[in-house]
Amino acid sequence: MATFEATKITYHPGTVTREERQKALGQQGVTVWFTGLSGSGKSTIAVAVEQVLIQRGHAAYVLDGDNIRFGLNAGPKILADTRGYGEDQAKRFGLGFSAADREENIRRIGEVAKLFADAGLITLTSFISPYRKDRDAARKVHEGNKAGAIPFVEVFVDTPIGTCEQRDPKGLYKQAREAVAAGKGMGFTGVDDPYEAPTSPELTLNMATQSVEEGVAAVLNYLAERGLIRA
Ligand SMILES: Nc1ncnc2c1ncn2[C@@H]1O[C@H](COP(=O)(O)OP(=O)(O)OP(=O)(O)O)[C@@H](O)[C@H]1O
Ligand SMILES: [Mg+2]
Repeated sequence: MATFEATKITYHPGTVTREERQKALGQQGVTVWFTGLSGSGKSTIAVAVEQVLIQRGHAAYVLDGDNIRFGLNAGPKILADTRGYGEDQAKRFGLGFSAADREENIRRIGEVAKLFADAGLITLTSFISPYRKDRDAARKVHEGNKAGAIPFVEVFVDTPIGTCEQRDPKGLYKQAREAVAAGKGMGFTGVDDPYEAPTSPELTLNMATQSVEEGVAAVLNYLAERGLIRA
């Protein structure tokens, strides 16, 4: 079978302008990127914001870390079990939790979020996204978009690790502490893998001191103040 290599790919611009798209949809696209430790409340706040936006007639959609790892960014085992990938192929395309795989996970999500936001959706992403350079790269993909900058709002869910660990709904901190105590380690963010806090996020929330309702209000107020949603 012949293999064709795409050595010269030329960007093909569309003809629909940003203004035409906004007018048709009655809103403009934006990515709201939630980052924080496991258990900090990213998914909780993202789905709550999505619910309110939809009720208010906005088109919004959550890209959630756990869910995406079943599909687009599935690991080798899921690809082998559900897609029939052979061992080599599953290893090649599946993503785990090494630093390189986490980077690729976030790279793909940054690109997908950009496409969704470019299509006019209010896109809410809830990924730990522990490394600063990976989040900055996602921002760059939005702000440097060829057809015009797309707003990127980084929301730091700054819940102290003590609270996250106490809530531990998935039992992952417990598992990680046990793995570390056994001398094995798990590469778990905040325990034996670093979390690099944002240096200048657009918004910071603390889900230990704020209720979900307060967090939702803070996000909506920010978006309204920036003129990104109807007030
Ligand atoms: N403001 C809050 N007040 C009280 N409990 C909260 C609050 N926000 C979230 N929680 C609880 O904290 C736990 C962790 O929340 P959530 O699953 O949203 O975290 P996450 O950041 O998405 O974690 P992960 O990265 O592991 O997916 C859940 O049990 C949730 O109900
Ligand atoms: Mg989550």
